[in-house]
Amino acid sequence: MTLLEPFHSTAIQLPNRVAMAPMTRGRADDKTGVPHPLTAEYYAQRACAGLIVSEGVWVTQTGKSGPGIPGLVTEQQVAAWRAVTEAVHEKGGRIFAQLWHAGRVSHPDVMGRTPVAPSAVRQAGRIFVADSWVDTVEPRELREDEIGGVVQDFATAARRAVEAGFDGVELHGANGYLLQEFLADNTNRRQDRYGGSVAARLRFPLEVVEAVAAQIGVAKVALRISPGNPENDIVEDDWKEVYSRLLAELRRYELAYLHVIDTPEAEALAYLRPLWPGVLIANLRSEEPTSQREGESLIEAGLADVVAFGRLFIANPDLPVRFALGAPLAQADHDVYYGARLDGYTDFPAFEPDSAKFACSARS
Ligand SMILES: Cc1cc2nc3c(=O)[nH]c(=O)nc-3n(C[C@H](O)[C@H](O)[C@H](O)COP(=O)(O)O)c2cc1C
Repeated sequence: MTLLEPFHSTAIQLPNRVAMAPMTRGRADDKTGVPHPLTAEYYAQRACAGLIVSEGVWVTQTGKSGPGIPGLVTEQQVAAWRAVTEAVHEKGGRIFAQLWHAGRVSHPDVMGRTPVAPSAVRQAGRIFVADSWVDTVEPRELREDEIGGVVQDFATAARRAVEAGFDGVELHGANGYLLQEFLADNTNRRQDRYGGSVAARLRFPLEVVEAVAAQIGVAKVALRISPGNPENDIVEDDWKEVYSRLLAELRRYELAYLHVIDTPEAEALAYLRPLWPGVLIANLRSEEPTSQREGESLIEAGLADVVAFGRLFIANPDLPVRFALGAPLAQADHDVYYGARLDGYTDFPAFEPDSAKFACSARS
């Protein structure tokens, strides 16, 4: 079994096991949250990925984390995403939208109001706003009677995603944003139905899954998690208990897939894989980008069905073809990762101009 073999499940059929990880690129119009016109070409160039997961897309303006991040709320945003999904489908690809609420990892300078979170616990460190790094602010604790509205924001955005032609949605439950803030006890200090015990900390993410599945059908719903990941000042000392219970609850749903970020701090994948009978996409978080060799090992060890690659896709739009050919990989300068600049976005060429003849898989 290799990365270049097809993958089939009830919900998803992929020509290879090389997924493109969600990556915020900050190219959207900052005022309107409308994706840049080049975004369609950017993703279409990467249609060889077994599955593309879009950059994180906010489900409500309050959930916007930083400058140039697109939304999936207004008609104009939906129309722009429709052009993206059509361009990807025309090239034979598949694309899920990553639905994102940043919770406390935001700033009034980014979205005009105080960020919201399970509890008024400020994130240590600084955050990037318009064009500089500033101190984080203390978020406002969500009132219990507001939480249903945020759940609904996810469900509405999921409906919008389907209207815009996405093949499904991936709920962003990783990297210290709102869903994970409810799971982690350093960010969730609540003593109501949404906090206090592990079962209560699971409630909000599970309500989001339930509402989104009811809205668009569970086969179109996926969840990304990063157990024990300290990113954005999360502390999850009890991640084994939290995530084994989360997965036990999620086993009721036949999700399209579960996307697990494995970190050197937790090494959660080996622990969680036996607890998840469904489709699993894995991604590694470390200094160096996840490599082809690491991806192959994850598949061979049975730890993942599909592997997501992030940074390598920035400069290698035809990454699966390069893997198949053993072709050299291009490097992207870190400076082009984010920002309202157009270089470093759609200007990385394919290695093999006639990539399509490989039909994005080694078998063709
Ligand atoms: C520029 C950039 C933007 C990212 N944006 C997101 C995002 O919007 N949502 C998300 O879940 N992860 C995001 N990530 C994390 C990646 O999905 C991935 O987990 C990480 O890059 C590690 O994978 P890699 O080693 O293949 O790059 C981002 C990473 C990078 C480099």
